[in-house]
Amino acid sequence: MPTIDVAGEKIHAAFFDAKSDRNLVLVHGSGGDATCWPLAELETLGVNVWSVDLPGHGQSGGKAREDVGEYAAVVEGLVKALGLSRVYLGGHSLGSAVALTLGLAAPAWLSGLVLVGAGARLRVNPAIFEALANDFSGALTLMDSVIFGPAAPQNVREAMRLRMAKTDVSVMVSDFTACDRFDVMKDIRRITLPALVVSGSADVLTSLKYGRFLADNIPDAELVVLEGAGHMMALEQPGAFAGALARFLG
Ligand code: COA
Repeated sequence: MPTIDVAGEKIHAAFFDAKSDRNLVLVHGSGGDATCWPLAELETLGVNVWSVDLPGHGQSGGKAREDVGEYAAVVEGLVKALGLSRVYLGGHSLGSAVALTLGLAAPAWLSGLVLVGAGARLRVNPAIFEALANDFSGALTLMDSVIFGPAAPQNVREAMRLRMAKTDVSVMVSDFTACDRFDVMKDIRRITLPALVVSGSADVLTSLKYGRFLADNIPDAELVVLEGAGHMMALEQPGAFAGALARFLG
């Protein structure tokens, strides 16, 4: 469980050492943390797994940002401080925006992208900002109603609700602001890295249309659709998600 100083902030990542020369670095979504991935399933893939807490989230210090580029700089700083190469960068929702940003920059350490519940633009419904500003408990109920597909396991929903209830509202507002400002619709054809796009057919926050757009426009991309899954697709269908990653990582 390393905690690394990145430009004066303590950044934490949950780590699984597969003694591999390949690294899967994971970046969570808005208001999330390192536990928002099915780590037990991902530890079977045969690659080292680093699940990052963005600044202001989980066990990291520092503060949340309103700009995806700033989060991308922190993730790149962490990768460099750890001396990682052959990195497959996985991002969920806000994290996918971080992955796309670094995918466009294409640093030498980056080998591929895993884009989960992703979009080249991530406009946020004003109802989410309103609920966060006026009624946090109502916002939690709203989030619970929109982030899962109909068959999401009850224990996963409950764990997520408890985790979100502990998240500072200002962190959520910062993250959603960063999403709302993000737009690389015109740029993604320039991404030359291989990319796995994972979409949930029942995702109402980042619809399948967003995933199709990524897969159609990133030249070396493939799309995997998790049938019936909502926005928290990796936690809702961990086996199918890990299976898609295993095929992608070959
Ligand atoms: N990939 C492909 N297409 C996209 C896209 C993406 N990432 N983002 C938007 N589009 C499309 C829309 O589907 C729409 O297409 P249409 O004109 O054919 O219907 C068009 O681009 C304009 O979309 P947008 O600018 O998002 O405006 P909107 O009027 O569709 O609605 C919101 C804006 C925020 C109300 C709406 O996008 C929404 O409810 N989003 C989902 C909920 C949410 O808050 N998600 C959080 C993401 S972290």
